[in-house]
Amino acid sequence: MRKPIIAGNWKMNNTKAEAETLIKELIPLVKDAEAEVVVCVPYTVIETAARLTKGTNIKVGAENVAWADKGAFTGEVSAAMLKEVGAQYVIIGHSERRQYFGETDETVNKRTVQALKNGFAPIVCVGETLTEREGGVTEAVCKRQVEGAFAGIGVEDAQKTVVAYEPVWAIGTGKTATGEQAQETIAYIRSVLAGLYGAAAENIRIQYGGSMNPSNVKELMEKKDIDGGLIGGASLKAADFSKVVNYR
Ligand code: 13P
Repeated sequence: MRKPIIAGNWKMNNTKAEAETLIKELIPLVKDAEAEVVVCVPYTVIETAARLTKGTNIKVGAENVAWADKGAFTGEVSAAMLKEVGAQYVIIGHSERRQYFGETDETVNKRTVQALKNGFAPIVCVGETLTEREGGVTEAVCKRQVEGAFAGIGVEDAQKTVVAYEPVWAIGTGKTATGEQAQETIAYIRSVLAGLYGAAAENIRIQYGGSMNPSNVKELMEKKDIDGGLIGGASLKAADFSKVVNYR
């Protein structure tokens, strides 16, 4: 009953010309996908991606959103601005933003609230570092991040939100969590959501992210609680991303 969702996270890659080439290659390769297909792209190419994917099954997302409506927030981009250029999804709280740009559970929450208020589907990222995993605090970290992100968010909005479990040690490292590791933590995250929303937690989609690629996607997607993937490196090549999308 949860529709799988495979989303690319281009991160800081692809100029306008590169984005055009990639999207044009991708469209025919994913047109029959069973999963929902999303590409989250840099601000500068959202309009291009939205224009090229109009009338296709590919949806477009941003990689962040400001928590305020407008005003003196140098470098930030508002929800209204993103909506105007065609974004429907927005990644919030990616570990790279937490690590390099001072994103906290509180700012993740404020951005998530703002995204929902403006009709976006937020993709909220959580996940532990290697030190945290080795220190045995994976669950405590995920619980804190999930409860922080969803603070004050009602049950209807929660069900529009996608959670991406991305163990930081698996991002861009070629080290994937095994299907069992990912399932175990994602099931735990669902139990945290159940603590907040009861049975509605069964309707909230939870993705796995971290070196997901054509060779490991099937094993991960077979797991009961894994509802999709957030794909970095492998989303930058149409052939690879389409194989992940068409994992069945
Ligand atoms: P990789 O797929 O490159 O490991 O990146 C995962 C990620 O961070 C997606 O948001």
